[in-house]
Amino acid sequence: MRIYKAKDYVDMSRKAANIVSAQVIMKPNCVLGLATGSTPIGLYKQLVEWYNKGDLDFSEVMTVNLDEYKGLSRDNDQSYYYFMHQNLFDHVNIPAENTHLPNGMEPDSQKECQEYTNLIQSLGGVDLQLLGIGHNGHIGFNEPGEAFDKQVHCVNLTQSTIEANKRFFASADDVPKQAYTMGIKTIMQAKKILIVASGEDKAEIVRDAFFGPITPKVPASVLQLHNDVTLVADEAALSKL
Ligand code: GLP
Repeated sequence: MRIYKAKDYVDMSRKAANIVSAQVIMKPNCVLGLATGSTPIGLYKQLVEWYNKGDLDFSEVMTVNLDEYKGLSRDNDQSYYYFMHQNLFDHVNIPAENTHLPNGMEPDSQKECQEYTNLIQSLGGVDLQLLGIGHNGHIGFNEPGEAFDKQVHCVNLTQSTIEANKRFFASADDVPKQAYTMGIKTIMQAKKILIVASGEDKAEIVRDAFFGPITPKVPASVLQLHNDVTLVADEAALSKL
């Protein structure tokens, strides 16, 4: 695993955006696996800035997002569909048909998960998967205890994730209780993985995930087994190493 230490959030965002840019420049028709959460927002902002300067072209890029809440429609401002449009897709020249997220409004979990798995395969797999990390070590919505061999599946969110995400909703009751997510197996099949982390509140989990034992109790720890992982984190997130 390569670790890049950034000074702060802005520096982390720029360093990580450089890695995504390099991927897009080297392979203009690459498949990017994208993530939501607050951590990658600065990275997306940086990509938009470089796009506006004429340094990046997304016209052939394909994207697949990690996860989506089950039961939220695309126009709900808390859906990941909405987030991706707000933070990236609406500001760059990526064709709408090249962007993909699980369909949160599909009630048939089995159908949706199979279709999303097939879609990723039909694109030839993910070239670069971007990840954030939850406080309990979750990646995508793979919560502690999830088996490492799962493809796209429907998960019941843990109380701690519902708590962490309730700040975006009117109340904890409004946070959806389920989500569709790429499984650990899907994530591990990406050719390259880029993980971003920022802030002191992530320091403990960054230490446990990347320097502790590999265990389903800390889903991100499985990344230690992948042969091309880059962690870009700021000093605060690396302060417990
Ligand atoms: C959410 C997302 C994850 C994300 C995590 C951390 O639950 N499903 O993909 O990595 O939260 O989010 P943040 O970056 O806001 O700390």
